[in-house]
Amino acid sequence: MRLPIRTCLVMKIFILCLLCFMAKVEAVNRKFSGFYVFGDSTVDAGNNNYIGTPFKSNFPPYGRDFSNQVPTGRFTNGKLATDYIASYVGLKKLLPPYLDPNLNIEELMTGVTFASAGSGFDPLTPTISNVIPIAKQMEYFRECKKRVGDAVGKERMENHVKKAGYFISAGTNDFVLNYFTLPIRRGNYTISAYHHFLIQHVKQFILDLLGEGARKIAVSGIPPMGCLPLMITLNSPNVFLQRGCIDKYSSPARDFNLLLQHELQKMQLQLNVSTPDAKLYYVDIYGPIADMIQAHTKYGFDEVNNGCCGSGYIEASVMCNRFSIVCSDPSKYVFWDSIHPTEKAYHNLFLASLPTIDFIINN
Ligand SMILES: *[C@@H]1O[C@H](CO)[C@@H](O)[C@H](O)[C@H]1NC(C)=O
Ligand SMILES: *[C@@H]1O[C@H](CO)[C@@H](O)[C@H](O)[C@H]1NC(C)=O
Repeated sequence: MRLPIRTCLVMKIFILCLLCFMAKVEAVNRKFSGFYVFGDSTVDAGNNNYIGTPFKSNFPPYGRDFSNQVPTGRFTNGKLATDYIASYVGLKKLLPPYLDPNLNIEELMTGVTFASAGSGFDPLTPTISNVIPIAKQMEYFRECKKRVGDAVGKERMENHVKKAGYFISAGTNDFVLNYFTLPIRRGNYTISAYHHFLIQHVKQFILDLLGEGARKIAVSGIPPMGCLPLMITLNSPNVFLQRGCIDKYSSPARDFNLLLQHELQKMQLQLNVSTPDAKLYYVDIYGPIADMIQAHTKYGFDEVNNGCCGSGYIEASVMCNRFSIVCSDPSKYVFWDSIHPTEKAYHNLFLASLPTIDFIINN
């Protein structure tokens, strides 16, 4: 009788140790304690599923290229660049939306996205489509910290927050949905004044995040907006025959990106004095997207100026739905709908940002 019990105990201890060891290996492979993301549809994994907005994508054909083909609320046919990043840094395969009510503490700690499709840095932008403002995303982050703190203790939570990675991706909607489309901001701000107005909001958001204890913060620039199929459709003199990028709408993106980089440097200079462990990073997406469009054959893309869903000219969100015709091979397309990249394009964006990601990990 004794021997089996002892064997059993030995086995149990052995299994426990093995589990401990495996957990440790996993923890060691993690490059950040967690990964927290803020912004718009480029990084929303489904927060809009839980709010009353027309800006949704939790229906087919969105998510078509997931193995179970489940539409998650990501505005693409599969994963986002932030999913690839979460996986690369050893945290999780898919970065879930914070508003998912089923997330446990472990999920909250390894990382979530607070992003909301249709949002922007200008407080007016999220009101257009009733989505989650950036300031509200910050409130959710505070709430998330509190939930984690209640579970693991304040000190451990604060250490966790310090060692996590942060990523902000927004700004396109401030131009596409707001400044270019509505008269309100255009009436008050020249394009250059609007750039500065947005940058002040970016700066405030970063300061708030630093105030919450974040230390490694990456901010994405904005894409060549004049290359979005929707922008081409709305502004080309011939929608069918002239579908090249419209530089009039891309040049404000370049100006914004320059100003953003300049502001990040200015902030870093001050942080080097006040908070030396705080690091701000710029992630370029303009260059990689422009390259995917211009040098498309290099990436195996055939279609660069219309989306895979529907006609490819205007459909996005509810207009790209189960009744839409879908292209047979999205990996040949840069754009999934008239605004958002395909999973393949997001993967290319991830690959293009790898040097920056590795730099963040090692600094
Ligand atoms: C912006 O324009 C509106 C009118 O469209 C005006 O009422 C408001 O005072 C202006 N705001 C600023 C800050 O100039
Ligand atoms: C901030 O300090 C780091 C070294 O810790 C240095 O590499 C970097 O150039 C400094 N940045 C600025 C903007 O001064």
